[in-house]
Amino acid sequence: MRHIKVNRYENFSQTAAELMMNQVEKKPNSTLGLATGSTPKGMYQELVKRSADLSQAVTFNLDEYVGISSDHPQSYRSFMEENLFQHIRVGETLIPDGEAADLAAECERYEQLINQHGGIDLQVLGLGHNGHIGFNEPGTPFSSRTHVVDLAETTRKANARFFNSLNEVPKKAITMGIETIMEADQIILLVYGEDKQQAVNRLLQGDVNEQFPASILHEHPNVTLVSGGVKVLN
Ligand code: F6R
Repeated sequence: MRHIKVNRYENFSQTAAELMMNQVEKKPNSTLGLATGSTPKGMYQELVKRSADLSQAVTFNLDEYVGISSDHPQSYRSFMEENLFQHIRVGETLIPDGEAADLAAECERYEQLINQHGGIDLQVLGLGHNGHIGFNEPGTPFSSRTHVVDLAETTRKANARFFNSLNEVPKKAITMGIETIMEADQIILLVYGEDKQQAVNRLLQGDVNEQFPASILHEHPNVTLVSGGVKVLN
């Protein structure tokens, strides 16, 4: 795992945006896997500032809540529209449909779409406090494909800051599986802030274990960890 350490959030976001821009310059019709959450917001702002041209790219988001509509202010579709898609030129933007009547069929459809586009060239990930990637919570089999998950209570609490109350936070989501994520050619793992210190240090210990989903990334040949605002062990 390659590790780039930066201090300020601005540098962190610029570094991440440059990695994305490099990929798109190299291959304009890239398939990009995207994440939501607080961590990549600055990267998206940088891409907007640099007028990134993703018009030939196809994007696949990692996950989406189940049970809220795509135009709900806290849906991941809304997040992506507000933070990136509305501000740049972008090709097809794909996000799991958390309102699908048949959720299992929706997971299958999403997997097929990824395959039809030749797999993901570059996948952006954030890191959960409990080591989750996408919404693959501790204990998720490393062999998982896109599936419906029950969100861990800790994850719902961490995300409650975006809703009026914990009650409003959805209990389920659709997420790419760990194996789906691992099939991406290149992965950028973004970790920023003191609150992620324990999680990133656990990752850097190198022990690969389903109880800490991100640990599988040690087995991927092309991962770049960009960490910032956090004291790391090595
Ligand atoms: C978001 C996602 C999650 C987040 C993780 C970190 O699409 O899949 O795994 O990346 O929960 O979230 P933040 O960045 O808000 O700390």
